[in-house]
Amino acid sequence: MAKGKHTHTRAQGKKWSTFSLVLWALFFLTLILVVLLALGIVYLPTTDDDFPTTDLSAFRRKTSQSAESLVENPPEQWTEILSWEPRAFIYHNFLSKEECEYLIELAKPQMVKSSVVDSKTGKSTESRVRTSSGMFLKRGKDKIVQNIEKRIADFTFIPEENGEGLQILHYEVGQKYEPHYDYFLDEFNTKNGGQRIATVLMYLSDVEEGGETVFPAANANFSSVPWWNDLSQCARKGLSVKPKMGDALLFWSMRPDATLDPSSLHGGCPVIKGNKWSSTKWMHLREYKV
Ligand SMILES: *[C@@H]1O[C@H](CO)[C@@H](O)[C@H](O)[C@H]1NC(C)=O
Repeated sequence: MAKGKHTHTRAQGKKWSTFSLVLWALFFLTLILVVLLALGIVYLPTTDDDFPTTDLSAFRRKTSQSAESLVENPPEQWTEILSWEPRAFIYHNFLSKEECEYLIELAKPQMVKSSVVDSKTGKSTESRVRTSSGMFLKRGKDKIVQNIEKRIADFTFIPEENGEGLQILHYEVGQKYEPHYDYFLDEFNTKNGGQRIATVLMYLSDVEEGGETVFPAANANFSSVPWWNDLSQCARKGLSVKPKMGDALLFWSMRPDATLDPSSLHGGCPVIKGNKWSSTKWMHLREYKV
């Protein structure tokens, strides 16, 4: 019995030694690879491109993939840092053309002359500083609006519940909004949701001339923007953004330390030629009850 077993083992011996040799070789190759990887001499290719940490494109790719697009090949979406005082960013092609047109059509029948909020009473009053017309869309009104609101939450890192309903605005030739702050300096208007911390301004149309968003108190070289030569006189009085259909401008009324940021002063320059349609989303510190 014992002899038989011995013979059997010997017969397998040669095969095993070749096999274990290959195993050992594989083991050592893996070991070398692991050491090289650990030392950073070799690295495995990943599906993501290499990008600098200041580039928000990774975030952008993720949201654009998850967002149900109405078009098959949407134009490229990318973020641009406009300024750090105020903290302002442009998200190019944030909305599709179809979404812009949808919002305009939805709002058209209900447009009324714009008013501003009275800081003493909280009531809306007609005003000469703001001469546009507008309306509010109920938060979460329909699938398309919900989709846009979800995207705004992703872009701002502020929950959807903290947002007021979308406001749709229309400016005709000569209409404007004088520079103002979006934050409140009174108790009344901060009762619901606390202070406004950020604003997302979406351009629903191109404007032939004028209608820029201007930050007159920005700490920046106003003339260093590439579109400087295309700006109206009004827009040259600050750091300005030209309206472009689908683009979104995000700016913060509060600094990261939660103090109010006066450099967020902004206005809408008069439209000189064409029409301006825009949509505003104000985001609060806490849940905004609708
Ligand atoms: C502002 O930017 C413009 C255009 O880039 C440049 O010519 C000018 O020298 C800058 N001004 C200052 C004060 O840096």
